[in-house]
Parts: sequence; structure tokens; C-alpha cells
Amino acid sequence: MAERGLQVGVIGAGAMGRGIAQVAASAGHSVLLADATAGVVTQARASIEKTLSRNVEKQRRTQAEADEVLARIVDAGDVSRGYDVFRSCGLVIEAVVERLDAKQALFTALEKVIAPDAVLGTNTSSLSVAAIAGTCANPERVIGIHFFNPAPVMPLVEIIPAITTDRGVSERITSLVASWGKTTVVATDTPGFIVNRVARPFYGESLRQLEEGIADVATIDWAMRELGGFRMGPFELMDFIGNDVNYAVTRSVFEAFFYDPRYKPSLTQRRLVESGFLGKKAGRGYYDYREGAPVREAKQDAAIGQAIFDRILAMLINEAVDAVLMGVASPGDIDLAMTKGVNYPKGLLAWANEIGLSTVLARLEALQAEYGEDRYRPSPLLRRMVRDGRQFFA
Ligand SMILES: NC(=O)c1ccc[n+]([C@@H]2O[C@H](COP(=O)([O-])OP(=O)(O)OC[C@H]3O[C@@H](n4cnc5c(N)ncnc54)[C@H](O)[C@@H]3O)[C@@H](O)[C@H]2O)c1
Repeated sequence: MAERGLQVGVIGAGAMGRGIAQVAASAGHSVLLADATAGVVTQARASIEKTLSRNVEKQRRTQAEADEVLARIVDAGDVSRGYDVFRSCGLVIEAVVERLDAKQALFTALEKVIAPDAVLGTNTSSLSVAAIAGTCANPERVIGIHFFNPAPVMPLVEIIPAITTDRGVSERITSLVASWGKTTVVATDTPGFIVNRVARPFYGESLRQLEEGIADVATIDWAMRELGGFRMGPFELMDFIGNDVNYAVTRSVFEAFFYDPRYKPSLTQRRLVESGFLGKKAGRGYYDYREGAPVREAKQDAAIGQAIFDRILAMLINEAVDAVLMGVASPGDIDLAMTKGVNYPKGLLAWANEIGLSTVLARLEALQAEYGEDRYRPSPLLRRMVRDGRQFFA
């Protein structure tokens, strides 16, 4: 362990907070877990206990190890009694509701009680770390530590220093999280960071092709799984994530990029959310999960499938290349993020090399010529690399 004896606070014991608490406790830290709602931490501990028992059944850890991990997660109760209990923590990670005012209020209250060298980490997926740090008296110790769901399973953690974050804090947190067995990538404090930015076309371009009647959801999912090698098709994945959650992230990235048409949300998805078709959790989404509902069959036409996949992949690669151009992260970290954070079968930049950058550029130019939309504009970096005959990682 990189920092023996470091006590970690986790505030917000929902889906993410409980996973983060488990990760930190598994790495040997004593963890204080709290929530705004009474009883949530008790539920969280029970669900962590269940997860640990499954680990024991699968022989990933012994019963004694599981007991030790659970014993290290202390119920700090509900935060209505204040934050004094976090006084002894060297790091506090928040995983509360995704609202800027809530996160700002939490950090400004916390910084009054924690030690001067203690770090405040935010697990936000779509807010600006600078904005969360901006109301703090000591913004240099505020940093984004973005886990993926479920946190104990997904290997990736994006580390996001804000403009104000101290470099030493950034380095310390990166090596701490790496010592927890996670793959870390450093991203700039830009909308969606790496994964939630680069992945947008996986959903957006699938929805666009659905709306145009090019294919139905089952066919697009089939094309991406069978021809693309993705573990899940875009529509099954959106149903799994929750259409409300996916739509909210898309909207937030679109607004944060000053309404760049590349990130424009889809009316189809909006209507689904408005109708309560939120996906698996609601029993209906793009698919019908109710008992006895008919199964949607894909039309397995290889030519149509290939065209669908080529179009989505070209848009994904363009987004990854543009993220390199805009300095969001290094090419290596961008590829690592997409394979470790969302299980893409290959890194998008390595994939671009494989297909040929000029092929990707030609596909985008054809789309832009056909639609006349800025949405399809090729990244200037892609153009430059094709012009200069360059490749990624060369
Ligand atoms: N769910 C995901 O896939 C995912 C992935 C990465 C990051 N995130 C981010 O993690 C954060 C939490 O998401 P989640 O999915 O765990 O949400 P969740 O709704 O499951 O849990 C949030 C918890 O925070 C508690 N809470 C709300 N306001 C609070 C406050 N002021 N003080 C203390 N507790 C408070 C709630 O009672 C709830 O138990 C969000 O910022 C979200 O954007 C979510």
C-alpha cells in the first residue's frame, strides 16, 4: 500500500460510494462511509457484505479477508450531524448526487474540519472539477477521482486535476489509486473527461441511424456486437445504463461544449425518457423486458451491418483523435481508458492505425458531404496526420 495508515472518508453511499468504500478497504485503508439519508450506509454495508461473500464463493478472497475488509468500513452515519467525524481522514471522496450546489456545499463544509494536507476527491462524471473546487478556500487540494460502475470491478479510474489543483496532490492521488490495483489515466478538466466524451458517438450515431430508418435497434446492436466486437450493442447498453442517465450525460456534455452539434442529444432518446421507458430498470426501453414480450430479431444483412459499424467507428475514432488534439489526455491513456473503462475491444487510435487513417478520413468526409453538417467534421489532427503520412504510436 502506498500510504499506510491513511484513513479514507467516502460521502454518499449509493451505487458508487459503496463500491469506492470497498475498493479502499480492500487496499487496507480504514474507511468512514456516510450518507445524507438515514439507513443508507447500513444498506450499503449489507450490499458490500454480499459482494464480498460472492468473492469468497469464487475463491477470489478468503472468508477471513472478506471479514477484515468489511470490518474496515465504518458506518459514519448520516451527515446531518456535521462532518467532524472526517477530521482524521487524509482523503475524502464524495459520491453524492450529481448537482454542483450539493458538491460545493459539501466541500466547503468539509474543508473546515479536515487536516490542512487532506485531499478532497470528487467522483463527478459530468461536472467541472474547477467549479466544485472554485468555492473552496483551498482549491489546490481538490481533484477529480472518477471511478466506473461497479467500482470494485471496473479497472479504470480517471484522475482529473483542475486548473487550481496542486501538482503534488495530483501525483500523490494517482499513485495512491494505482496502489489500489486500478489503472489510472490523467485527463484534463474538460466535459466528459475521456470516456464520457469519446464514447458519445457510440450512442449518438446509433440513434441517428435509427432515426433515419437505416436499421432497427436489434440490427444496429447486432452489427456492433458481431462485426465490431463490442460486448454490448449501443441500445442494450443504453437500456442497461438507464436512458435517463445516458440522456443526462449527453445533455450535460452538449451544453458544456457550448452546443457543439457533434454532441447533440437525440429526440428519440428524449421521448423515451419522457415516457418513462428508462431501460431495464423500468421494464421497457429500446427493448421490452416484460415477461412474454416478443424478442426483437436483427436483420443480419452483412452489407448493412458493415455500413452501420463503419459509420459509428469512424465517428468514435474522430472523437478520440480530437481529444488528442485538444490535449484531453495522451493517445496511450485515451486507448487505455476506452478498453479499461468501457470494455472496447480495441483502443480507438490503435484501431485507426489498423484501418488506415486515410480510410477513416474518407468516411468522415463522405458523411460531411452528404449531410452538410458540422457534426461530421473531421478533426484537423486527422487531416494533418493523413497529409503527413503519420500514424499513432509510431
Ligand atoms: N452510477 C454511475 O454509473 C456513475 C459512474 C461514475 C460516476 N458517478 C457519479 O457518482 C456520484 C454518485 O452517483 P451514484 O450513481 O452512486 O448515485 P446514487 O443515487 O446511487 O447515490 C448517491 C447517494 O448520495 C446520497 N446523497 C445525496 N446528497 C448527499 C449529500 N449532500 N451528502 C451526503 N450524501 C448525499 C444519496 O442519499 C445517495 O445515497 C455522482 O456524482 C455520479 O455522477 C456515477
